Amino acid sequence: MKDDLSRLKKKVEDCRKCKLWKTRNKPVFGEGSDNAKIMLIGLGPGYHENLGGRPFVGAAGKLLTELLTLAGRQREDVYITNIMKCYLPNNRPTEKQIKACTPYLNEQVELIKPTIIMPLGNIANRYIFNKFQLPLAPIGKLHGKILSISTLLSQATIIPMYHPAAALRNPRLKDIIKIDWKQMAQALNNE
Ligand code: URA
Ligand code: SF4
Repeated sequence: MKDDLSRLKKKVEDCRKCKLWKTRNKPVFGEGSDNAKIMLIGLGPGYHENLGGRPFVGAAGKLLTELLTLAGRQREDVYITNIMKCYLPNNRPTEKQIKACTPYLNEQVELIKPTIIMPLGNIANRYIFNKFQLPLAPIGKLHGKILSISTLLSQATIIPMYHPAAALRNPRLKDIIKIDWKQMAQALNNE
């Protein structure tokens, strides 16, 4: 791992900026290629992620791995992380907790420099849309869209997607999410 990323990971492991440190087992920093072009951003660790310290290893993770396969990618090709780095007992961070934790995500984006950022679900999507000053709408409207942004320093593509856990709760979404991922891969391959 790049030195700067390892240092950042250590900082997260020692972090007590919000009260979620008290209920975490292992923080989930993120994993994948340090030079990944694609960064996936979920919400935060659930039960299984908290046990192992790795992102998306439970049921939603299994679907995410399937979606990556549909898109012709493997987990190792991308970088997978979350808005929140510590276990969310009720799956809902407060605004204050999001504010405390997202500087870590911002640093990850700066160090890895992905050209494609895929927020998964409403909360990650809202954070990324605000960060890059894109006009926000619910994920039900934005899912699968390919949006280009340019900042002073970089050019990137934002592709909002449904959260895989939402697709597991709703069979209709499961078909839609698969179509979104396949179409996304086709669009990227044609670029
Ligand atoms: N859900 C998320 O948003 N992130 C994970 O890492 C696992 C489940
Ligand atoms: Fe720190 Fe984020 Fe964990 Fe809160 S959730 S303790 S801000 S690493």
